Amino acid sequence: MASPIEQIRRTPDTETLAFARSVVRGLSDTPRHLDCRFLYDARGSQLFERICEQPEYYLTNAESEILKAAASDIAVKTGNLTLIEFGSGSSIKTQTILEAYSKEFGQTCYTPVDISHTILEEAKLSLTKKFPNVSVDPFHGTFEEAFNLFHQFSPSLFLFLGSSIGNFDTVQSTTFWESVCAHQVEGDFSLLGIDITEDREALHAAYNDSAGLSAEFTKNIFDRMNRDFDASIDTDSIAHVAKYNPDWQRVEIFAQFLETQTIDIAPLATTFEIEAGEMILTEISRKFRLKQMVPYLRTFGLKVVEKYIDDNRHFCVLLLRQE
Ligand code: AVI
Repeated sequence: MASPIEQIRRTPDTETLAFARSVVRGLSDTPRHLDCRFLYDARGSQLFERICEQPEYYLTNAESEILKAAASDIAVKTGNLTLIEFGSGSSIKTQTILEAYSKEFGQTCYTPVDISHTILEEAKLSLTKKFPNVSVDPFHGTFEEAFNLFHQFSPSLFLFLGSSIGNFDTVQSTTFWESVCAHQVEGDFSLLGIDITEDREALHAAYNDSAGLSAEFTKNIFDRMNRDFDASIDTDSIAHVAKYNPDWQRVEIFAQFLETQTIDIAPLATTFEIEAGEMILTEISRKFRLKQMVPYLRTFGLKVVEKYIDDNRHFCVLLLRQE
C-alpha cells in the first residue's frame, strides 16, 4: 500500500549542512551553545534510549506507570482518531496507548515522527509485528515539517511525551504551541508528558547517571562533528556538567573543555578556538509547575480534559483538547 504521507527529501548531505550551519551559529554566540536537536543522530538516539533505561532517570518509569493506568481512559475520552507522535524514538512507551486504542476500536492509525530514520524503521517493524491492527505510517523529518500532517489527519491525538517540551526554551516553546494551535482543528486532542519533580537530588542523579550514559550523550554531539566534518576534537578532554538552575527551573547541561582545542567546521570553512575551562551549553531540560503550565497552555486554546500524575508526583501527563 502506498504511503499517504509525502516525505520531504532529506539526504545525509542536507542534514550535515544543517548541522554545520547550526554549530557555526551556536559557537559564534556568547555564551556558546549548541542546538540539542543534533544530539540525536543514530548513536545519540541509541544512547538516549539507554539513558531512559537507567534507574536514576525517573522520568521514563513515572510516565510509563501513568500511561499504563490511564491508557484506556484516554482512549475512551478521545474516541477513535489518528495518533501522531513527535519525537517518538523507539515508541516503547506508546505501545501502552496503541494497545488501548486497538482494543477499544480495532483498527488504529499511528504516525511516529522522528529525526532518526533508523529508529523509525525499527519501530515500524516491531510495532507492526506486535499490533497487527495498528497501521504504522512513519514520518521522517523535523517537527516544523510534520505540523502539516495535522490537517490531513484530523481528528487526531497529538502525542508529545517524555517531557520533550522541556528541551525548548520559553521562546521556542511558545513558537511550538503556536504551531500546534495553528494546525489543529477544534476538537483535536494532545497528550503532553511533563516533568514536575521538585526533588533536587532526583534531578541531579537523573542527569548524572552512574553508568556515564548522560556524559556519553553530551560528548556524542562532538563525536558527531568528528564523524560528519572531521572536526578534530579530542572528546576525551570534554567533561559533562549537568546542574539544576533554580532561577530558571531547569537542568542545564554543558560540555566543559578541559584543554584548549580548535574545532574545524570544514563544510563552512570555519574554525573556532575553545579555551580550557569554557562551557558550551548543549541542552536545557525545563521542569514545570502545573499552576503555571495549565494557564499557559490555555493561551493556545488547549484546555485540560484530564491530569494524570504518578504516585511520587514526579511526572504529569495532560490530556488536552483544542477549543
Ligand atoms: C528528551 N528529553 C526530554 C531528555 C530530558 O530529560 O530533557 C533529554 C536528556 N538529556 C539528557 N538526559 C536526558
